[in-house]
Amino acid sequence: SVTNVHRIACIPGDGIGVDITDAAIHVLNTLSATIGGFEFAFTTFDWSSKNYLERGWYMPPDGLEQLKKFDAIYFGAVGWPNVPDHISLWSLILPIRKALNQYVNVRPTRILQGTKSPLSESVCKPSDLDWMIIRENSEGEYSGQGGTSHEDSPYTVATEVSIFTRVGIERIMRFAFETARSRPRKKLTMVTKSNAQRHGMVLWDKVFYEVAKEYEDVEIDKMLVDAMTVRMVLQPKSLDTIVATNLHADILSDLAAALSGSIGIAPSSNLDPTRANPSMFEPIHGSAPDIAGKGIANPVGAFWSAAEMVRWVGEEKAADGLMKAVENVTARGVKTRDLGGSEDTKGVTEAVCREIEDLF
Ligand code: NAI
Ligand code: MG
Repeated sequence: SVTNVHRIACIPGDGIGVDITDAAIHVLNTLSATIGGFEFAFTTFDWSSKNYLERGWYMPPDGLEQLKKFDAIYFGAVGWPNVPDHISLWSLILPIRKALNQYVNVRPTRILQGTKSPLSESVCKPSDLDWMIIRENSEGEYSGQGGTSHEDSPYTVATEVSIFTRVGIERIMRFAFETARSRPRKKLTMVTKSNAQRHGMVLWDKVFYEVAKEYEDVEIDKMLVDAMTVRMVLQPKSLDTIVATNLHADILSDLAAALSGSIGIAPSSNLDPTRANPSMFEPIHGSAPDIAGKGIANPVGAFWSAAEMVRWVGEEKAADGLMKAVENVTARGVKTRDLGGSEDTKGVTEAVCREIEDLF
């Protein structure tokens, strides 16, 4: 029989990025060995802050070209206290997202079985929080335009220019509407701040209403980002699919993760929907220096991200199976400390592997 080989570039990066990438590879190998018919060929790249300090680079000059040869990229986390965060981010993850045209960042949030929201049951039953946040991932507030003059003087001037293009807005809106349409509630909330920011955000609103005309079956509404934080906390059930700019969705998705129990469970997919370039999958959390090296990082966000990658490369059944295994494990109370459990990374990883073997 033919075995489908999916070539995966792995960039563990820094801190707990390394632990959770190891855990994800272990689980993915268990998945392919148990189900059969496909396998993953992993190539690991040692692009990290530690190596940057020794070598002077995160990615080699042909790094992006190397990545383009893979079917998908699995990313841990980048950033360490001895390198300024804007250097690490702008040397690795942001160039990858931009150069590989990963203009969508998909961030699902829900409360997994056996876990709890910090919200009280009167506000949020477990089934009340099931969101799909669609983050614009290529422009907006993270365009990288701007500069600094008169540096290190009392007269320093710094600008950080947000860029919004019609092309960029239209394509993220179409993706968001398609996502909303594919979900049972067919409901899309658009987040903006077009009262105070009167140019780029106004264009964002305008294009949203234009694209909405092509999707009359999708129920829409609009929120200002400040009020959105209140609605997420007090009326979680009123939301389903959410579309927001690069910065707003970055912030809202951390809030969403916290409301669903822990930042440690939240996944993300950086997608090039045209499939001309590989897409990249990573938990939304960072390198967590405060717990790095202790073996206690929650690997669930890494597994969920891995499941999204498995789905993207076309192994639907395996993706569903992996998520089922993860949720059966949390349901039994096998959880790390951030979720109120007492297991470590390895304990949860082994439990998920055994669960996969039981399921298939
Ligand atoms: P962080 O997400 O690394 O940590 C925030 C808090 O959540 C910490 O208390 C941490 O222990 C906890 N936490 C995070 N992931 C966890 C997990 N899997 N299990 C249990 N607890 C977990 O965010 P922080 O501290 O703001 O950033 C640390 C470094 O990571 C910085 O250098 C930052 O720039 C970088 N970073 C990188 C990202 C990426 O690679 N995509 C995303 C966010 C931050
Ligand atoms: Mg973030």
